[in-house]
Amino acid sequence: MDISNFIQGLPKAELHLHIEGTFEPELMFRLAERNGISIPYRSVEELRAAYQFRNLQEFLDIYYQGANVLQTAEDFYDLTMAYLERIHRDNVIHTEIFFDPQTHTHRGIDFNTVLDGIHSAMEEGHRKFGISYEIIMSFLRHLSEEDAFRTLEQALPHKDKITGVGLDSSELGNPPSKFQKVFREAAKHGFRLTAHAGEEGPAAYVREALDLLNVERIDHGNRSLDDEDLVKRIVEEKLVLTVCPLSNKKLQVCRHMERHPLRRMLDLGIRATVNSDDPAYFGGYMNDNFMAVAEHLDLSPEDLMQLSRNAFEGSFATPERKAEMLAELERFAGETVRK
Ligand code: HPA
Ligand code: ZN
Repeated sequence: MDISNFIQGLPKAELHLHIEGTFEPELMFRLAERNGISIPYRSVEELRAAYQFRNLQEFLDIYYQGANVLQTAEDFYDLTMAYLERIHRDNVIHTEIFFDPQTHTHRGIDFNTVLDGIHSAMEEGHRKFGISYEIIMSFLRHLSEEDAFRTLEQALPHKDKITGVGLDSSELGNPPSKFQKVFREAAKHGFRLTAHAGEEGPAAYVREALDLLNVERIDHGNRSLDDEDLVKRIVEEKLVLTVCPLSNKKLQVCRHMERHPLRRMLDLGIRATVNSDDPAYFGGYMNDNFMAVAEHLDLSPEDLMQLSRNAFEGSFATPERKAEMLAELERFAGETVRK
């Protein structure tokens, strides 16, 4: 079996995905027209051509601009449903998606409108495709902790729909320590915890996320490798890193895919996973990300299965669902060995 068929058949879980980052230009133009909003590009091609970034901030500026088109619950539903249809084709059987409430509440869109649209699509995706899911709300780290507290307050009536909290947006200058109190409060309410750290920021930010925020997972975490003791701890504590290869390339976190740290992470025994982050902006969904690392880092079928296993084990799914997904992976392994 060639590697692309292997990746296609491999059952996968996605643990690092911003739903606003799945907004494809075609849908953006359609919703802009539906909502009577103008976007500063003349065509889908012109918009796509603008997706050239030298760093995280250049991407975030365009990503927040795109999100302005989203107005109604129906818009959030359509956005989420398009993502689910797309990943179903990639054989993703479980997904944990981030949404950024503040990106929308700050421009007058109600928290409930956003969550309703996303949640009803996730339910429909579960019914239609059998894709299980968790929803994680992310605090924007360039805003204040006070603002994050207000967002947490708005989420409390929806604890049944929101599994966890995360931390994203501009990393440099906004260390995890800034959000220590709000993460403690979120934990008290039973939210699972994760945070972006070590994407552009130093290994010290990863340490802060672990020590001060008490997160269970690290989103990205590339820069952890700069700190040997931290690596030891990540391995010992079996911490999961949600790595995003095409995102790292596009945001110049890593210049050459051949030198992407995923290979070293696996060799060190780190529970790394592969994810798409913002696929509409970074040029690929799950299978594209798997393909990029398989080719450029010369990963074996066993490595690719380990990446999937890490994702199932490190997911926020129930123990029953995890067991089911791991069994599906073992079934796939058995079938491919026979071929
Ligand atoms: N990093 C930080 N914030 C983000 C990202 C990312 O990769 N994607 C969407 N918001
Ligand atoms: Zn991210």
